[in-house]
Amino acid sequence: MRKFMKLTTSTLATLAITGSMAVAEDVEVLHWWTSGGEAAALNVLKQDLESQGIGWQDMPVAGGGGDAAMTVLRARVTAGNAPTAVQMLGFDILDWADEGALANLNDVAAAEGWDAVVPDALQAFSKVDGQWVAAPVNVHSTNWVWANKAVLEVNGIAVPTTWEEFEVAVNTLAAAGLTPIAHGGQAWQDATIFDAVVMSTGGPDFYKAAFIDLDPEALGSDTMKQAFDRMSFIRANVDDNFSGRDWNLATSMVINGEAGFQMMGDWAKGEFLNAGKVPGEDFLCFRFPGTQDQVTFNADQFAMFSQGDTVSDEQAALATAILSPSFQSAFNVVKGSVPARTDVSDEAFDACGKQGIADLAAASASGNLYGSMAHGHASNASVKNAIYDVVTAHFNGEYDSETATSELVDAVSIAQ
Ligand code: BGC
Repeated sequence: MRKFMKLTTSTLATLAITGSMAVAEDVEVLHWWTSGGEAAALNVLKQDLESQGIGWQDMPVAGGGGDAAMTVLRARVTAGNAPTAVQMLGFDILDWADEGALANLNDVAAAEGWDAVVPDALQAFSKVDGQWVAAPVNVHSTNWVWANKAVLEVNGIAVPTTWEEFEVAVNTLAAAGLTPIAHGGQAWQDATIFDAVVMSTGGPDFYKAAFIDLDPEALGSDTMKQAFDRMSFIRANVDDNFSGRDWNLATSMVINGEAGFQMMGDWAKGEFLNAGKVPGEDFLCFRFPGTQDQVTFNADQFAMFSQGDTVSDEQAALATAILSPSFQSAFNVVKGSVPARTDVSDEAFDACGKQGIADLAAASASGNLYGSMAHGHASNASVKNAIYDVVTAHFNGEYDSETATSELVDAVSIAQ
């Protein structure tokens, strides 16, 4: 007797987790690029591969910052069915490499000369013990502000360059009855703002001491308390419906003129572009006040999960495509990020992209380039999540600034 599998919701969920619908010779790519701007950028990669005859099995896991994607990844690997390629950030790459899960990309890297063109700050997350384990797609940075140009003009607001000027601008917008700051209350978004606020409040040495060295003195300092106070100011100037809102919906509020500013990484630019908006005409991009000389970066990379002894042809083709100069330009122009190679011309980039490329080079040369805490480039996932918890509890009014500061010290110490 033939048996038919009944496709219940739970079977479909299992198939999604185990990926058993994937066709063997395709690349199955797990990623969290699900907003309009992100999907437009992802299409550039899909089309590149499809033009080489490589099929694409899409495995999108919605959720900005990638925490949900990382949970699904863990389930897939535990089920013995890792996807071919996975979007990943910073310390997550190093952790998976330590587990021996990632394919060795050295042959591709040598053939394509990656060592000479990928900056050291990225190689620190792409290579483990001399072995390439991930292909960097881009460099994003978190210390940006996105503003509606007309809203600022109508309210007589110039681009703020200090925290004090920013406060005045925000108060002006509030007095005009607008939502000064568009924000989505999700832990990774609160943390994204915190990257910039801590950098602006304490400066680069303080940022490094707190988030990279995890120095308890910095974490528990008055400067940290001041950073939390600034978060309270920001919290007081978001709208009532901010809880749980996706980041791209917050970007839409700026696009539509409902809100003045959004503090968000430069993936936000992808949303403005996708809505047909033009930098300098419709919207403005500028560094978070007080962080003009610094860049808190995160780089999307694709790690290939080992499917045997060597990297498969499809994985090699994907890695090669990702690092090609023409792809690096075409993709990053749409995504809002900047190339992961130092030898790509900025010609095709708009004003924000050109600034991003110049800022990255300048910050790297002056020692002002730091990994983003919020996006997994300052510490491993358990420390990052411990910081998230405190920042979000404070943002939601559970802790005052003093309590948050001491909770931060404890949480980071326990998580290490
Ligand atoms: C990624 C970006 C992505 C953003 C929002 C970041 O962690 O690096 O590529 O657009 O999250 O999902």
